[in-house]
Amino acid sequence: MRSRFVHNGGMEIFSKTSQMPETQPPQPQTTSDQSRCVLVCQHQSCLRNGSEGTLKAFEDADVPNVKVEASGCLGQCNIGPTVRVIPDETWYYRVQPEDAKAIATQHLQGGKPVQEKLNPRIHPQFNF
Ligand code: FES
Repeated sequence: MRSRFVHNGGMEIFSKTSQMPETQPPQPQTTSDQSRCVLVCQHQSCLRNGSEGTLKAFEDADVPNVKVEASGCLGQCNIGPTVRVIPDETWYYRVQPEDAKAIATQHLQGGKPVQEKLNPRIHPQFNF
């Protein structure tokens, strides 16, 4: 039997958990892809933590060839505002407006993710 994905507000949910493939944690990737999109959660917890300002900061940055969209809950509620860049699959956490400006400049324009704002659940960093 094949597993299949069900999309739910940006989260991928397996319909058969017993068939979940073994995966490595996704690593941020840089891309020069012309079709990137920044999803900024505008759901309850993130809104309470200022995601409306975060969304506006990304919109004001007006990075060429990058769409900015409000999204529903991205499943990272207690470390929001949550931002997800696709198709890079780069996830940021606790993104405030000043962080959005840095992400727009350094990552979206410069191709280098902002390490200190990478979601540690999705992009674990080990310093031994
Ligand atoms: S409320 Fe924003 S990630 Fe859930």
